[in-house]
Order: sequence, then structure tokens, then C-alpha cells
Amino acid sequence: MTGTLEIRGLGRNFGGLKALEDISVTLAPGEILGVIGPNGAGKTTLFNTISGVFRPSAGTVSLDGRIISRMRPDQIARLGVGRTFQSTTVFPETTVRETLERARSFLTAHSPMAWLGSFGQRAAGHSVDRVLKRIGLDGMADSEAISLAYGFQKILGIGMALVQRPRLLLMDEPAAGLNSSEKIEVTNLIRGIRDEYGIGILLVEHDMKMVMGLCDRVQVISYGRHVAIGTPEEVRTNSDVIDAYLGKDHELA
Ligand SMILES: Nc1ncnc2c1ncn2[C@@H]1O[C@H](COP(=O)(O)OP(=O)(O)O)[C@@H](O)[C@H]1O
Ligand SMILES: [Mg+2]
Repeated sequence: MTGTLEIRGLGRNFGGLKALEDISVTLAPGEILGVIGPNGAGKTTLFNTISGVFRPSAGTVSLDGRIISRMRPDQIARLGVGRTFQSTTVFPETTVRETLERARSFLTAHSPMAWLGSFGQRAAGHSVDRVLKRIGLDGMADSEAISLAYGFQKILGIGMALVQRPRLLLMDEPAAGLNSSEKIEVTNLIRGIRDEYGIGILLVEHDMKMVMGLCDRVQVISYGRHVAIGTPEEVRTNSDVIDAYLGKDHELA
């Protein structure tokens, strides 16, 4: 049991607003779990509560049985809860390879392992090369990250999470702003990450085609509350889900 994320009775209030209420779900290693729901349903709040940006108002999040939900974001990240970086290029005048090296050093800089020195650097080189190949940017390693097309910059953001060797990965709308061929590429990449690294992926995404094609299970929330959980097929045909979210005007093909 390594990299199991367990969410129990999770709630988060903003003043009088219950942005999340009594959410319980488990993400197993190697599983791709989608989280869907209408705008304002609490998806990003769930993401931020897991990663430590927000403290829960109720309930717990644990990783392999250890409660992480009152830790700081950097502590949670160091324990292996990775998240993809939303924004495109963060550093000016930095190549693709250097961007990944910096992302990796974020986690190691203050860790007890940092004193390992040259050993750490060798490990970093290996890891960055492997990730460059995995995300398909090895041919662009020496290009300035800012010069990449938007879709490649988003893929680089996924790579930045991967070099930190996460035990599970949270992805908030990885397909947002991508065209349809880029979406296919990102879909294949996410599946490839799961297959190669065997880690669980929690995927918050609006694109139904992507969610339904990629996820093993889908958690549906609305107004911060649980609506349904099941396989894409179970969720697609669930009448509560159709009422709460999917309706007639959503393309599910
Ligand atoms: N930092 C915050 N302060 C106050 N209200 C917030 C904050 N973040 C989110 N909310 C509210 O919580 C609810 C859920 O928002 P969010 O998690 O962003 O939904 P989703 O990502 O599903 O669209 C919304 O009503 C939103 O306005
Ligand atoms: Mg959101």
C-alpha cells in the first residue's frame, strides 16, 4: 500500500458558504479518478484542501494511513502528493531542461537529503532525462521554455510535477485551453504516466470526453456535496448525475 490517498468526511467552509461538505473518496495507486461537477461545485476547493492550500473545516485527508490534512503545502508535496502547475512558464530565460531541474530542486532544497550532494545531482539528471522522454519534450530540452507553443508549455507543467517523483498526482484541468489534437496528446500522456509510474491520478477536468475516456472511476459533486461515484458508464447513466450536471446540453460522446 503506497500512495493511497484517503479523503474522509472532508468539508471546507468560506464564511457561511459550504464549498465542500462531507466528501469521502479513496484514490488507489494506479487509479485515475475523475472529479466532475458544475462550475462552483467545489472541485478546485477539493484540490486545494488536499494539497494543503486550504485547511479543512471538517474531516481528514490521509496518505498511506498518515493524516496530512493539517500540514503545510510544501510538507504535503514532500510526502509525495504532486500537483501539476497550472500556469505556463514560470521562469524567464530558462530552457525546458533547466525548468525541470528547478522544479525538482524546489522539493530537495530544504530536504534532509540535500546534503547527499553529488549523489543528489546524479539522481536529478537521471530523473530529468527520463521525464523529458516521458513527456515527449526531449527534442526541445534546450529550447527556451517560454518559446514553446501553449500545449507544450502545459505538458512541461506536468513534467515539473513528475520530476518531484510524486506518489500520486493531482491535476486541475490539464486540458483547459488546448485544441483537440493537444487534448488527445495530453490524454495519452496522462495514461502513459499512470502506466509507467503506477501512481494514482486525481483528475479535475471539464472536458467530458477526456474524463470519460481516461478515468477508472468518476466522483460527481454538486454544491460541495457528493452526488455519485462509479465507472464512467455508471455515472453517465445515473439519473442524479443527469439532473445535477450532465443534462441534455452536454456532449458525452
Ligand atoms: N478562497 C475562497 N474564498 C471564498 N469563496 C471561495 C473561495 N474559493 C472558492 N470559493 C467558493 O467556493 C465554491 C466552490 O468553488 P470552486 O472550488 O472554485 O468550484 P469549481 O472548481 O468546482 O468550479 C464557489 O461558490 C466559490 O465561489
Ligand atoms: Mg475550478
